[in-house]
Amino acid sequence: MDTHQKAWDKDYAGRGRLWGGAVLDLPLLPEGSVVLELGCGDGKTLSALPDGWKIVALDVSPQALRLARRVRSDANLILADAGRLPLRVGSFDAVFAFHVTGHLLARERSALAREAARALVPGGRLFFRDFSDQDMRAGQGDEVEPGTFRRGSGILTHYFTENEVGELFSSLQPVSISTHRWKLRIKGEDLVRAEVVAVFLKS
Ligand SMILES: C[S@@+](CC[C@H](N)C(=O)[O-])C[C@H]1O[C@@H](n2cnc3c(N)ncnc32)[C@H](O)[C@@H]1O
Repeated sequence: MDTHQKAWDKDYAGRGRLWGGAVLDLPLLPEGSVVLELGCGDGKTLSALPDGWKIVALDVSPQALRLARRVRSDANLILADAGRLPLRVGSFDAVFAFHVTGHLLARERSALAREAARALVPGGRLFFRDFSDQDMRAGQGDEVEPGTFRRGSGILTHYFTENEVGELFSSLQPVSISTHRWKLRIKGEDLVRAEVVAVFLKS
């Protein structure tokens, strides 16, 4: 296990379930659709996917998969790197990449984008969500690459612009790319969370 995997594993082992909140904007796909989640974590998105879909999900953290398995025992959960998928080309109607790409270095983000495109069937769609460079935490920690910061836990976070997301998935056709912002009040101060949310189509 490399340092990056260890950092995630330690987080899940120490804190158990990490991610709360609602899962927004899931697509309406027909029963029997085959879907892939990259970096499924403890299963937040998995918990919201309909029963009729065939679900494959992967993560680099064994601890995350242990938690996800409790949420979704019917899914095929795999210990794997999103940048090197042990899966057949053109197998998936949809790929979800929610808050995983932003935890990778530039070279690894490109590998994830290439693999996600490879995994989709023609007509399949990629659903992306990650923090924007307008997010309240952008700039915090040590900058290890332009726009990518390492904080105390050792976990990296890259903060995206909309253009950057379009370029990253340029082998796919953009359907929508937008920035969602919402306010958080922390210790009497209004702070802004911001995510780039995008959908791409494989033609
Ligand atoms: C912020 S969590 C997001 C989890 C989930 N997608 C969600 O939205 O709740 C990021 C997850 O990506 C996983 N991860 C990090 N690098 C990865 C990689 N190269 N391949 C697959 N998963 C990875 C981490 O272990 C962690 O579980």
